[in-house]
Amino acid sequence: MAYELIEVSTEAGKVGIVRLNRPKQLNALNEALMDELGAALKAFDADEAIGCMIVTGSEKAFAAGADIGAMAQYSFADAYGRDYITRNWETIRSIRKPVIAAVSGFALGGGCELAMMCDFIIAADNAKFGQPEIKLGIIPGAGGTQRLPRAVGKSKAMDMALTARMMDAQEAERAGLVSRVVAVDKLMEETLGAALTICEFSQIATMAAKESVNRAFESGLSDGVMFERRLFHALFATADQKEGMDAFVNKRKPSFKNR
Ligand code: HXC
Repeated sequence: MAYELIEVSTEAGKVGIVRLNRPKQLNALNEALMDELGAALKAFDADEAIGCMIVTGSEKAFAAGADIGAMAQYSFADAYGRDYITRNWETIRSIRKPVIAAVSGFALGGGCELAMMCDFIIAADNAKFGQPEIKLGIIPGAGGTQRLPRAVGKSKAMDMALTARMMDAQEAERAGLVSRVVAVDKLMEETLGAALTICEFSQIATMAAKESVNRAFESGLSDGVMFERRLFHALFATADQKEGMDAFVNKRKPSFKNR
């Protein structure tokens, strides 16, 4: 598929990279871009050689939100009846391999929500996160009022959703929204390092780890722990478990086959 609003590449044949590419609009997210993003991530997910994906933007903006120009004239019938705007946002949640958001500059509104839909966020030191929808007479529509409080707690989430203030990278790290903050010129290097590390492990195990951590947000503790235990036990049926433990015992590097 030829892409117009994203750039798609791979690193070392193992990491799939999607760069949002509407620089003049600060990567404002429209339906066509979200379709392309979903298609690219699904294609990487289906490619056995790919072990991890990265979603990133430009230095100035990861994404400044859903495209306000496109949304401005929508009626309730368009938004709800035709499911415009949100129709294709959940595709990223169906991706089974790990997806890292590498965020530089603005991650606002739908941009912040998109970053939060990824498995973890690595932020450049110039990153700014916010849910400023309230300024437009709306509220977040792609999980901002749900994933943000789970990440940073109620008080900061309310503060951001109600006052529209932005959180800088340092505050985002303190609050637990992002996993690391790095110098802006080291963002891709550091994110690729994390992605390549993930690619060294068994894909079966990395997918199981992702699935199990995500379960923590969908269930109570006992159910979540039981879910984890079932997956943990199941992994003893894989060749990669034998390989990983044999390699440790025999002091050699493991060679995982994703089997
Ligand atoms: C459409 C956008 C845009 C957006 C920026 N642009 N954000 N276009 N949708 N979300 C465009 C501007 O119109 C402008 O185009 C160009 O990008 C550069 O932006 P400037 O405002 O000139 O840049 P700057 O002064 O540096 O300010 C950057 C900014 C500001 C703080 C990020 O652009 C801003 O506040 N943007 C809107 C952020 C926002 O409200 N996001 C939430 C959207 S609602 P021109 O043609 O003038 O050069 C949302 C709902 C999610 O996301 C629902 C999920 C399904």
